[in-house]
Amino acid sequence: MQAIPIFLILSLLLSSSYAAVQDFCVGDLSGPDTPSGYTCKKKVTVSDFVYSGLGAAGNTSNIIKAAVTPAFADQFPGVNGLDISLARLDLAPSGVVPLHTHPGGSEVLIVAQGTICAGFISSANAVYFKNLNKGDIMVFPKGLLHFQINSGGSPALAFVSFSSSRPGLQITDFALFANDLPTEIINKVTFLDVAQIKKLKGVLGGTG
Ligand SMILES: *[C@@H]1O[C@H](CO)[C@@H](O)[C@H](O)[C@H]1NC(C)=O
Repeated sequence: MQAIPIFLILSLLLSSSYAAVQDFCVGDLSGPDTPSGYTCKKKVTVSDFVYSGLGAAGNTSNIIKAAVTPAFADQFPGVNGLDISLARLDLAPSGVVPLHTHPGGSEVLIVAQGTICAGFISSANAVYFKNLNKGDIMVFPKGLLHFQINSGGSPALAFVSFSSSRPGLQITDFALFANDLPTEIINKVTFLDVAQIKKLKGVLGGTG
């Protein structure tokens, strides 16, 4: 009579421990890339949970004088499925990360060096921006347009973290002026002058 309850308890313990074994899912970058992330790599080592790619400054010799070095699932497969990731942000003097969004996750930024003017715009079109100094952190809610500007005279460094292993990045100016969306459509949907649109397309490599 007592053998049945013991058997039941054992089978419950076994089934619940089987259900809990999925501690992580290091992304298999050679496998399919699905909306819910990569499939899990079969054999993992501690190297899968360590990423050394954020130690060096990114190259800020570009039009925005800024470099974003991501440690998303594509670079750091250990974060796959964990709803977390990081990036390094280098801003040369007067460098800027232009107005952009991360469709997939909220962001927190911590300033490690220099002074950064950071802000975001809510869906009610309220504006929140502030000069941040070393040690300051700011949060940018998921999906909202935001920006970072080096507001000091020296190079600035910040680290950002996201509530997604693949937050994505869409820069508004690039979305408008770095592709072949026809100038007359951009003019209609933004009310910007044709001359200004053509100028920005020229700078950012857009056509049409
Ligand atoms: C940084 O980028 C610029 C422009 O692409 C390039 O000319 C330069 O060699 C790069 N510097 C380094 C250190 O990679």
